[in-house]
Amino acid sequence: MADAITFTNVSKIYGDATVLNNLTFGIPEGQITTILGFSGAGKSTLMKHILGLTHPTSGKITSLGTDMETLDELGLREFRRNFGMVFQYAALFDFLTAFENVAFPLREFTKLKESEIKAKVSELMQAVELVPESWQRLPSELSGGMRKRVGLARALALEPRIMLYDEPTSGLDPISTQVVSDLIVDTAKQNAQRKLTSLVISHDVRASLRISDNIMFLEKGKIVEYSTVQGFKNSNNPVIRRFLEL
Ligand SMILES: Nc1ncnc2c1ncn2[C@@H]1O[C@H](COP(=O)(O)OP(=O)(O)OP(=O)(O)O)[C@@H](O)[C@H]1O
Ligand SMILES: [Mg+2]
Repeated sequence: MADAITFTNVSKIYGDATVLNNLTFGIPEGQITTILGFSGAGKSTLMKHILGLTHPTSGKITSLGTDMETLDELGLREFRRNFGMVFQYAALFDFLTAFENVAFPLREFTKLKESEIKAKVSELMQAVELVPESWQRLPSELSGGMRKRVGLARALALEPRIMLYDEPTSGLDPISTQVVSDLIVDTAKQNAQRKLTSLVISHDVRASLRISDNIMFLEKGKIVEYSTVQGFKNSNNPVIRRFLEL
């Protein structure tokens, strides 16, 4: 199994704080990998490195076979089109309908004709199970769960190779957490043939155990454990055991 992303001896130091401490790992292509850790562990910093929004103090990062250091600002912007991002709060444009939110990246980045945009948006809406009655509504007229679906459909519009989910379930009630978890798994399954890689950042241990193939636990910028879900559940590491019992 090839790796979609690799870190080799990556450190990030701010002043005298080592936020990422000599990390070496790979994120396998076509699987769902979750990075877990308490607040301040370095999860968001790690995600920013993957997107090239910040650069390591030392070490090397490759993403989809490209050495991130070889890309200039323009190259990075182009490169980020390989990523679909779903944020904690759906981050939709409130002045655009659900349909137009999903059409936005297609209008912005492709030369598709209006009829092709219609067909593509309809297909994406169906994939996330958003009924046609909701397509012409503004985000303020949709439930939280529906907004999540619109955000997911929009993230998928340009057929990204890697989906990034930043805290997709935090702040959600148990039912919505289940719905969003199912959406992540369904999206991965629907795009399994083209080996879509999913990377989730979370501190929701229950949801993570349910959806992931692999789990990495970060603490103070170091990897405490990185294994399959089964391996994680069976870990003898006292830090992991304590975390699992929370
Ligand atoms: N630009 C920065 N300058 C200085 N320190 C930073 C910067 N960005 C992050 N840090 C520090 O790095 C550490 C890790 O932050 P990060 O945001 O990656 O944590 P996190 O695991 O995402 O936490 P949370 O779960 O709260 O989102 C924190 O101590 C934070 O204060
Ligand atoms: Mg964070």
